[in-house]
Amino acid sequence: MRLLALSGSLRKRSSTGAVLRSALDLHDGPATTADIAALPHFNPDLDAEGAAPPPAVAALRTAAAAADAILVVSPEYAHGVPGTLKNALDWLVSSGECVDKPIAVITASPFPTGGNHANAQLRETLETMSGRIVPAACLEIPAIGPKTDPTTERVTDEATLTDLRAALQALRTA
Ligand SMILES: Cc1cc2nc3c(=O)[nH]c(=O)nc-3n(C[C@H](O)[C@H](O)[C@H](O)COP(=O)(O)O)c2cc1C
Repeated sequence: MRLLALSGSLRKRSSTGAVLRSALDLHDGPATTADIAALPHFNPDLDAEGAAPPPAVAALRTAAAAADAILVVSPEYAHGVPGTLKNALDWLVSSGECVDKPIAVITASPFPTGGNHANAQLRETLETMSGRIVPAACLEIPAIGPKTDPTTERVTDEATLTDLRAALQALRTA
């Protein structure tokens, strides 16, 4: 399974980044991550049919097209999806790389809610884009802080690692 991983956090030492890195450690196969911070703000004028997309958009679309499955890992901001991540998804709407592709949505939060609002919104958006959300591969990870090691920037909590392993297996099966 060739995986494209998207992180909704641009923060250094991000807990989302720790979850994403641990998931990729557990993944047995090729994986790429996309630099979504390099994307311009989505503008349909830049997405006109026949026009060459901006280079960062072309790179994202190439990576998404080459992937068998997509792993989205994100925090929640103000009960919503981080703008940078939503922007990246907007660039993939018209080009269609998400269509029929198995997708895992994982959110993590320092709070008990596990980023449930952002998780639901991401799933709604990706389903609207005709992505194939794999429910068994989706996780809402609560109280993420003490479950990660800031030095290794990895998840250390065994239960969470077990959940990540199962999520990747579900994605692989899908
Ligand atoms: C502007 C802002 C809004 C936030 N809103 C929420 C929220 O609605 N729900 C939530 O669970 N966490 C919220 N948080 C806390 C983030 O989940 C927390 O900062 C988390 O560590 C960010 O992920 P990261 O470590 O990957 O950067 C918010 C944080 C910021 C900075």
